[in-house]
Amino acid sequence: MHTEFCDEVGNEVPIFAFTHCRDVVVAVSKAGGMGVLGAGFMDVNQLREELDWIDAHIGDYAYGVDVVIPQNYVGRDEDELTELELEEKLWAMVPGEHLAMAQKLLDDHGVPPWPETGRPKIFGWTLQTVMPCLEEALCRPKCRLIVNALGTPPADVINRVKSSGRLIGALCGKRKQAVQHRDAGLDFVVAQGTEGGGHTGEIGSVVLWPDIIDAVSPLPVLAAGGIGNGRQMLAAMAMGAAGVWTGSLWLTAEEADAQPAQKESFLNAAVDDTVRTKAWTGKPARVLRNAWTEAWDRSDTPDPLPMPLHGLVTADAMRRSEAYASSGRTQQVAMNICGQVIGQINDIESCRSIIYRMITEYLDGLEALNHLMPPELREDP
Ligand SMILES: Cc1cc2nc3c(=O)[nH]c(=O)nc-3n(C[C@H](O)[C@H](O)[C@H](O)COP(=O)(O)O)c2cc1C
Repeated sequence: MHTEFCDEVGNEVPIFAFTHCRDVVVAVSKAGGMGVLGAGFMDVNQLREELDWIDAHIGDYAYGVDVVIPQNYVGRDEDELTELELEEKLWAMVPGEHLAMAQKLLDDHGVPPWPETGRPKIFGWTLQTVMPCLEEALCRPKCRLIVNALGTPPADVINRVKSSGRLIGALCGKRKQAVQHRDAGLDFVVAQGTEGGGHTGEIGSVVLWPDIIDAVSPLPVLAAGGIGNGRQMLAAMAMGAAGVWTGSLWLTAEEADAQPAQKESFLNAAVDDTVRTKAWTGKPARVLRNAWTEAWDRSDTPDPLPMPLHGLVTADAMRRSEAYASSGRTQQVAMNICGQVIGQINDIESCRSIIYRMITEYLDGLEALNHLMPPELREDP
């Protein structure tokens, strides 16, 4: 199961876990995989607090940090503006009818109002917010890996990460993006099939993975999108992946800090309960289908705005549905980001037992394949 990429990053097994939860990062890395903390919703102060905790609890193991620098977003060219000035400018671009529709959906589903006045924080998806977070991650010796979502990171970010001695990679959902990542000098790519949770493309994993592996070889490719057990992992490794990059798998882990009502939604979901929609951020992302996604996807309602403007529309819903997860019919308007694989996750397990289960299933699958060979060609166990 060991791959060269494992040696480079210091994993015992080629399992990478994207998560927003620091406990999951630590538990996965300690069990032999690598936990990668999603910093996309954090400002630099929150990230510092999370990384202090991880550094204090992870022992000698390594971890990664994932940031979101979209290649295209409204405001990308406004380099001269401060974070606050850019926020002001973006808020002014959000039409009142979008905010009114969001408020009505929340009220209609009995979600209590936010107790304080003032606007919710913008997601950390502008260069102004990400750069201080990146610097915070790079001053941590145990942080070995930086990953970017939503495009090729700018050249100065790539150079900065590489000159700090870390590896840098990025997600992609089609061959063209993978080639662009390689040509920009990234150390690896994460090929995410449409099944995956969060922002995702249109091509399914079984077609995407070999396409990208062939396109960028010998660059290591981590396979993502729809991996929840060892058989799915075996399929990815058989196609030449250097490891698997998973997200949905950890949402219901014992260590994950999601609200119980949200975990319930995930545990009860079937494979066909997700939808790829612009209703969360303005770019297509996979989430659990509910009244929120259906309302924004209807033809008689306003279209979602481009990123990051729609994120401003959903920001209040995100904080309220997290804080009041079990009130009223909150789960009907919550952004429950997950992939199709959520339908095969029905139990709460610890991160360590998830990793052990994956390895056992992988080895069982390998043995079953071995038995398909004529006896004279089988490998002895
Ligand atoms: C709750 C959630 C949030 C996500 N947010 C991000 C993100 O901020 N940055 C990122 O690179 N990927 C993000 N992703 C995608 C994951 O990194 C990963 O590629 C994906 O979950 C793999 O597909 P799977 O869900 O089928 O395992 C997210 C996934 C989930 C489930």
